Amino acid sequence: MKIALIGYGKMGQAIEEIAVAKGHEIVLKISIDNTADFTTEAVQQADVAIEFTSPHSAFENVQKCLEAGVPVICGSTGWLDKWDEIKSICQQQNGTLLYASNFSIGVNLFFELNTYLAKLMANHPEYDVLLEEIHHTQKRDAPSGTAITLAEQVLHHIASKKQWVNEPATNKEQLSIVSERIDPAPGTHKIKYTSPIDDIEIIHTAHNRKGFAGGAVLAAEFIIGKKGIFTMKEVLNLA
Ligand SMILES: NC(=O)c1ccc[n+]([C@@H]2O[C@H](COP(=O)([O-])OP(=O)(O)OC[C@H]3O[C@@H](n4cnc5c(N)ncnc54)[C@H](O)[C@@H]3O)[C@@H](O)[C@H]2O)c1
Repeated sequence: MKIALIGYGKMGQAIEEIAVAKGHEIVLKISIDNTADFTTEAVQQADVAIEFTSPHSAFENVQKCLEAGVPVICGSTGWLDKWDEIKSICQQQNGTLLYASNFSIGVNLFFELNTYLAKLMANHPEYDVLLEEIHHTQKRDAPSGTAITLAEQVLHHIASKKQWVNEPATNKEQLSIVSERIDPAPGTHKIKYTSPIDDIEIIHTAHNRKGFAGGAVLAAEFIIGKKGIFTMKEVLNLA
């Protein structure tokens, strides 16, 4: 598989290491210093593009790949206000797109666990719920994309919670996401249910970036030859 890496920072480099070890070839590496090399012709040399840049550039980069007819895996977080727009561009282009707020297999299993726990807790209003996430200090967006996915799963099942807030909750309808930035944490997420009698919490702690990078390569292998919009649920057969 020929891969274009759009974003060659911590994630792009971790992806390169795993992809090359699996026998794939990197045909294009784009970072902020060589954006002029990110042409339609250059990206069309690849079977798939893997985009990990920043909240400010992700939409434009994904759009460029889709318009070039190249399937794209996107891991940049913090830009999903433009999700509907990118979805319709993908449909218009009859393209292929897979976005995940977190590519690690462990976190995707954790998403399933979070949903299951929220379903169980839906009938127990004596428990309040909150989320915590810890990342390294260079992370641009807060709360993390993963925390937003976890929060939306909770909101879907716990009827008393109406919206998430990235601060301590001021009323019962708010689901608080507490964000902390501490080096060198690659990513910790906790969901905590508390009652006057006891607490129940589930925690996922990433030890390094290999989980995200490995999942992104797996996702790239999965979308080759497919059309449409996919998630890690399909990649991991959890759908
Ligand atoms: N979905 C996941 O599993 C997951 C995991 C880790 C990180 N992330 C997200 O991935 C993104 C990148 O993370 P990182 O740790 O590699 O960051 P990083 O800062 O180490 O690297 C970012 C890269 O993007 C490049 N870049 C920035 N603006 C660009 C532009 N306009 N055009 C082209 N390239 C540009 C930078 O030069 C750099 O090479 C962030 O949004 C982060 O939150 C997602």
